[in-house]
Amino acid sequence: MSAAARAAAAVDRDRLWQLHMDFAALGATPGGGVNRQALSPEDIAARRHMVAWAGRRGFNVATDDFGNLFVRRAGRDRTAPPVVSGSHLDSQPKGGRFDGAYGVLAACEALAALDDAGIVTERPVEAVAWVNEEGSRFSPGMMGSAIYAGLRRLADTVDVLDPDGVRLGDALAAFLAATPDVSRRPFGLPLAAYVEAHIEQGPRLEAARRTIGIVGGIQGMRWFELSIAGRDAHAGTTPRAARRDAMRAAAEAVTAMAAATDDAGDALRFTVGRFVARPGSPNTVPGRVDFTIDLRHPDDATLDATAARLRTIVTATAGARDCMADMREIFTAAPTLFDATVVGAVRRQAEALGLAHMDIFSGAGHDAMWMARLCPTGMIFVPCAGGLSHNEAESATPEDLAAGTRVLAACLVELAGAA
Ligand code: HGY
Ligand code: MN
Ligand code: MN
Repeated sequence: MSAAARAAAAVDRDRLWQLHMDFAALGATPGGGVNRQALSPEDIAARRHMVAWAGRRGFNVATDDFGNLFVRRAGRDRTAPPVVSGSHLDSQPKGGRFDGAYGVLAACEALAALDDAGIVTERPVEAVAWVNEEGSRFSPGMMGSAIYAGLRRLADTVDVLDPDGVRLGDALAAFLAATPDVSRRPFGLPLAAYVEAHIEQGPRLEAARRTIGIVGGIQGMRWFELSIAGRDAHAGTTPRAARRDAMRAAAEAVTAMAAATDDAGDALRFTVGRFVARPGSPNTVPGRVDFTIDLRHPDDATLDATAARLRTIVTATAGARDCMADMREIFTAAPTLFDATVVGAVRRQAEALGLAHMDIFSGAGHDAMWMARLCPTGMIFVPCAGGLSHNEAESATPEDLAAGTRVLAACLVELAGAA
């Protein structure tokens, strides 16, 4: 049996599932999901849990100045750039137990399986937990991996405020202080390859009754923050003609933009996820509305053209209500294609394991999109029930999680080389 096959065989389904349940308890919500937002006390608890897990296995742990956490299993060549696998431990406010956590815990289980199978790899292999992938508390998302990849400066993030006015830099200081004995390492150390396991977060694998998604790439995405400015006024005395009603202008703008993005092929994704009227009093006409737009599509030119149309719509709609519109792009990620070597390794190992698989393109964003700009990168998807995610009811089976982890363990051996 090859080293890759031995690594896959050593993956322990029940141990992996228990690890998921242990982490799901950190920030568990009454609705059966998790609220473990970036740099929160719950995220600190998960960080500490991962450090303790690594210590029990005798793996070396390191972190960088943004808190990205790396668990290393040594290779024969201790100086070689590692093969890395991971995802994120932070969640949406009402998130599921598997989004992100699966990628981190599958990587941890793969390290344990390599150990149990007594496999010596040429290169070191690392599990990583990237910080603030979701961006729900501190926008935008995929921050930790972007800073690591040199695509965003740490200094540009420390003054970002969460919805309660907490400064990212202060939350980060507490996050790092929670694990004082973890050694620091610089951003941007070279990686030989990166593979991320993740639930699909969509319905296609389940519908096609496939266990493994061989991910070819990730669609493009843009985040915008918009502000509509009018004038606070009395709800009872102010005639319509005298109003500069930011709520009415924003509501009409969102309706018009939604209609403009209802493309025939249902490929364009337009989402307003946050919408806040200020001052937020029932008897004051809102003088300001702040809202977000998350825009996605596989084609960058379509994203450019759509963003321009949205800007035109919101400016005209606000103007018709004697309001001003401001639209700021805060996140831009071009469509990403993964490296043929890594995609090929995923395919080879899924076939070697006799797992039903299909090619798929990711509708969700992942840290892998930034790693693909650093090194050969790929992803492994497994199904989730009904394709539901960013929802407390998100669910996956122990069997599918283990199958994806077997493919991952075998890929890591193939990419790191068995000494
Ligand atoms: O937004 C995303 O696509 C990812 O789930 N954070
Ligand atoms: Mn995710
Ligand atoms: Mn997510």
